[in-house]
Amino acid sequence: MIILFWAATIIFTIVYAGILFYLLYALYAMISGAPFVPTSHEKVKKMIDMVDLKEHERFIDLGSGDGRLVLAATQHCKHATGVEISPLLYWTSRTQQLRKHIKNATFIRDTLWNIDLASYDVVSIYFIPHWMKKLEKKIKQEMKPGSRIISHAFTFPGWRYQKKDDTIYMYYV
Ligand SMILES: C[S@@+](CC[C@H](N)C(=O)[O-])C[C@H]1O[C@@H](n2cnc3c(N)ncnc32)[C@H](O)[C@@H]1O
Repeated sequence: MIILFWAATIIFTIVYAGILFYLLYALYAMISGAPFVPTSHEKVKKMIDMVDLKEHERFIDLGSGDGRLVLAATQHCKHATGVEISPLLYWTSRTQQLRKHIKNATFIRDTLWNIDLASYDVVSIYFIPHWMKKLEKKIKQEMKPGSRIISHAFTFPGWRYQKKDDTIYMYYV
């Protein structure tokens, strides 16, 4: 009986610690960028089509969630990277990558603010309006002229988009 009690206590502690860990990261993600709201598969396709990825290009999704945009992009470009702050979402993406045997993708578990964007041709984002101004500054400072940005749902406050389809916006640096 006592063994059963301790086993139940340990299992509950592990489950609650896991939930707490997940919630703390979700809160951290909301404060430092955006909560996890996945782009629908239909819009993933629309974003990839609109940005017209080329075979030699490097793509990065800033806040890559479960990795769906990154894994879809690998079919159209040389290499795709996802940066994700949440360890749970990072490991979900890695698992999907391994399951699908995709070689030309990298997932980084970090905050996007630490990533140098200079070597990328295309950036995708799905971020809350509060951070768009800071992101605009970072992109313009680091990315080469002619690079493309594809944004889901939100626009940059001081930057004119070149294309719009539904809730997707494309910009040229
Ligand atoms: C709205 S979701 C978009 C997910 C994915 N790009 C998609 O379109 O399906 C935003 C993601 O950014 C992540 N995130 C928030 N702040 C971040 C930061 N500072 N650095 C990296 N990822 C961040 C969140 O955990 C979340 O997965």
